[in-house]
Amino acid sequence: MSQVCKVELEGKTYELPLMFGTEGEKAIDISKLRDLSGYITLDSGYKNTGATTSKITFLDGELGILRHRGYSIEDLAEKSNFLEVAYLVINGELPKKDEFESFTKRIKENMLIHEDLRAIIMGFPSSAHPMGVLSATVGALTAFHPNSLDPNISKDALYQTIIQLIAQMPTIAAWSYRKQVGRPINYPKRNMSYAGNFLQMMFDNPWEGYSPDPVVESALDKLFILHADHEQNCSTSTVRLVGSAQASLFASISSGISALWGPLHGGANQAVIEMLEMIMQDGGNVEKYINKAKDKNDTFRLMGFGHRVYKNFDPRAKIIKKAADDVLKKLGVNDPALEIAKKIEEIALKDEYFVSRSLYPNVDFYSGIIYRAIGIPTEMFTVMFALGRLPGWIAQWKEMREQKEPIGRPRQLYVGNPLRPYVDMQNR
Ligand code: SDX
Repeated sequence: MSQVCKVELEGKTYELPLMFGTEGEKAIDISKLRDLSGYITLDSGYKNTGATTSKITFLDGELGILRHRGYSIEDLAEKSNFLEVAYLVINGELPKKDEFESFTKRIKENMLIHEDLRAIIMGFPSSAHPMGVLSATVGALTAFHPNSLDPNISKDALYQTIIQLIAQMPTIAAWSYRKQVGRPINYPKRNMSYAGNFLQMMFDNPWEGYSPDPVVESALDKLFILHADHEQNCSTSTVRLVGSAQASLFASISSGISALWGPLHGGANQAVIEMLEMIMQDGGNVEKYINKAKDKNDTFRLMGFGHRVYKNFDPRAKIIKKAADDVLKKLGVNDPALEIAKKIEEIALKDEYFVSRSLYPNVDFYSGIIYRAIGIPTEMFTVMFALGRLPGWIAQWKEMREQKEPIGRPRQLYVGNPLRPYVDMQNR
């Protein structure tokens, strides 16, 4: 017998079903509340509102736990690789050898993009922000794969769309960079890893014969894993909402890229490095910026700190912080920004303002240090986040469709003018 809670409104009592997740999470199903009582609930920013049930990612913000399909992020970051994690979040199980070989083979076969799409990328001014190029170009993929527009797309056709996205987004990202720096593009090579191919498309020059440093290749693959999915965050919720209107997967992913671009979300990794550089240029006065972050009259925020869900350490931040140390040491890079970041963390985690609000470093706080050491330009940091998050967006969109969820359409509380008569211009 399902459990219920009782809500008393205007002298009447209503029973609402209770729901319980695999890990003990609890919810009140309010889907019938308005029909029963005329009341809606209001929750600006959906801080306490669940949008769906999902089997993809479990996270516990209080305990700092993150799992994909039941596997811990620590295990996946240490033992898996990005394409295997992509397969896992999308298909629900770790692939068997033949499944993985077929998946990676299809991705390698689809990394080349249509020459007309290359012309679109090359048509952007070199000053264009790479996230704008990525969002626009991913949306343009519908023009080259019109069958993706079919709301009743077949399973096989959808899977091909998924393969094309995972295969072609790195190529689009790398080619937008080559356009920005005025260098000839590099075509994808089938004998390289996913991360390695992206790096060679970014950094190879005809006269060099570039081959990626294994340390860099491994660090990038691990960063992609750490960004793979994060349940109902802003950009994922955007992808699900757009997809719920039966918009194509390409159009939905394009909208997710735009949402991720915001500095409060994925754009934070770019904002963190810009913040660290500002502090360095200001003599490294960390205390000054900690105090600015605490000052309610100052719009300055400690970028890379705080999280809607994690009220403990973001487990990804811990892994990335260690990876930053390792990568910089192996590359012999001495980046003063890392020392500034560590000093901020040390001071903030002892400061009552941050402790009382459970503000810890999040996934974006250290990732830019590694991207910078790899040679990724700051404006492309959020593009790197999007490349990592792509499998999660795809998995969540696919789950929403498989669960046949209705079009998302939140309600509101109207607080504007009551009915009033139209007044002609001369009488206003
Ligand atoms: C990502 O949701 C996800 O899962 C996202 C993500 C993912 O993988 O998809 O994890 C990726 O987006 C990580 C977050 C990246 N953003 C930043 O680093 C930007 C800086 N952080 C903040 O803007 C903020 O912490 C948010 C946006 C992340 C969370 O904001 P909330 O949950 O709306 O919290 P809030 O703004 O209501 O803050 C609560 C209090 C406030 O103080 P009081 O009004 O209680 O006095 O904490 C303060 C805020 O002023 N606060 C900060 C702060 N973050 C929150 N004060 C200074 N610096 C900060 N960074």
